[in-house]
Amino acid sequence: MRVLGIETSCDETGVALYDSERGLLAHTLHSQVALHAEYGGVVPELASRDHVQRALPLIQMALDQAGLDKSDIDGVAYTAGPGLMGALLVGASIGRSLAWAWGVPAVGVHHMEGHLLAPMLEETPPEFPFVALLVSGGHTQLVEVTGIGQYQLLGESLDDAAGEAFDKTAKMLGLGYPGGPILAKLATQGDPERFTFPRPMVDRPGLDFSFSGLKTFALNTFHKHPDAQADIARAFEDAVVDTLAIKCKRALKQTGLKRLVIAGGVSANTRLREKLHQLTAGLGGEVYYPRPEFCTDNGAMIAYAGHQRLLHGQHEPIAIKAQPRWPMDSLTSL
Ligand code: KG4
Ligand code: ZN
Repeated sequence: MRVLGIETSCDETGVALYDSERGLLAHTLHSQVALHAEYGGVVPELASRDHVQRALPLIQMALDQAGLDKSDIDGVAYTAGPGLMGALLVGASIGRSLAWAWGVPAVGVHHMEGHLLAPMLEETPPEFPFVALLVSGGHTQLVEVTGIGQYQLLGESLDDAAGEAFDKTAKMLGLGYPGGPILAKLATQGDPERFTFPRPMVDRPGLDFSFSGLKTFALNTFHKHPDAQADIARAFEDAVVDTLAIKCKRALKQTGLKRLVIAGGVSANTRLREKLHQLTAGLGGEVYYPRPEFCTDNGAMIAYAGHQRLLHGQHEPIAIKAQPRWPMDSLTSL
């Protein structure tokens, strides 16, 4: 089965083609970073308009890359949520309409399920069950995963998501947009000994997170030391990474599992990957993550997740599905 995947939930238009036998055949992406940079964050209306412009040419480009024609497509997967309503509607309308015109089934994919399954596109994919740490711009969640669609939420952020905390802190430090990767790069030049930031909520039982206080801590430090951007960036990154690692360790202990998966934009962070390698090695386990380009939003993860669901006979009636809010534990298992 060959599936076209379309991702438009936020500020990236991603398209991919996935084949049951041959794996990923093509993927194309347009990032709107330059479009939103002057506003210091995503402007939803501009995001929707840009998706409208980009989606069809990217779909044509993916078909060309794979040497396929539209008649070769057996199903369409589009991101149906969570995300920005206008942005979601673009991908959902295009995906649903193409499937209708081509006479093939369509399925609305949960964006975070896409992230969670992205490591399945790598050469050594994780086997079920595992603990997943989903760290993106909108979500920070620890999930016990026993199969596709079998997700038990173990903990989540009570305020800012990890990526959001990176972005807001970077903005306060005057580092530009998108903050996560810029702050991480600057942190490599920082002195890890100069400042020590708190590790929020680690002294309490449970697996929830809170990152908004760290941002204030960074701001206060910056006011006192306006020339210490790199050192602050390093202290902030260490605090986030440490906190995530402590909770991952707790989640592995609680579930008795040894496999850990990290996915979502922040899983591209080098220091986080290193820390979780050390952690899982110490526990006799293993950590899995997608290649950097599939950590952040992309069409490949949507094509993969949708393909799994379509293969199992799941598809939507002829209606355009877009759900800005959509709890992941409400998904059906395969
Ligand atoms: O998964 P994603 O592309 O979009 C959402 O679904 O939200 O994640 C984007 C987030 C942004 O907050 C971005 O700053 C963060 O991931 N990010 C990083 C890094 N690369 C992307 N954060 C820390 N270090 C990185 N290297
Ligand atoms: Zn995402």
